[in-house]
Amino acid sequence: MVAVGNDIQEKLISEAEIQEKVKELGKRISGDYGDAENLIVVGILKGAIIFLSDLVREITIPINLDFMAVSSYGTNIHSSGAVRILKDLEVDIEDKHVLIVEDIVDTGLTLKYLLENLKSRSPKSVKTCTLLDKPERRTVGVKVDYNGFNIPDRFVVGYGLDYAERYRNLPYIGVLKPKAYE
Ligand code: XMP
Ligand code: MG
Repeated sequence: MVAVGNDIQEKLISEAEIQEKVKELGKRISGDYGDAENLIVVGILKGAIIFLSDLVREITIPINLDFMAVSSYGTNIHSSGAVRILKDLEVDIEDKHVLIVEDIVDTGLTLKYLLENLKSRSPKSVKTCTLLDKPERRTVGVKVDYNGFNIPDRFVVGYGLDYAERYRNLPYIGVLKPKAYE
């Protein structure tokens, strides 16, 4: 049988570390929003879905869930900065609190675009949450309100993150063996 983990060279973040962090983030988010009504959690497809589905179960206040899908023009590994909306929100966020949930912030271009786009719809507030952050790679300033882990400048997969649409189902975050790119 072919196992998805066979292509992984190094495990960077284990399942247990992820689960502990997700619990901590859920607790912080629940506490920070407290009694604020109308929190809309916006998951960014597809990479954030595994993180999002674990995270929302650690959020103890009422929320609405919605999704956006964006694509950055560029190769599999590097985004070019031009962002296109493939799927927009279904709900109106005017006067609502919005929390964007991302898998990873790299250059920051995708998140910057999303923040500007959503802010133009007159929400009450917009905050950002990401599982992973590569601070070394940042080219534009964006505020990350909730961050799971800072990671080095290496291409990672697993727990929602893909290479060529594979490896999303890996339960941990890992670095691919070079042969997996060939
Ligand atoms: P920017 O540069 O706009 O990039 O902050 C965000 C998007 O780039 C992708 N990305 C990765 N995807 N492993 C991945 O699977 C990585 O190490 C990685 N680094 C960046 C990702 O789609 C993210 O939303
Ligand atoms: Mg991807």
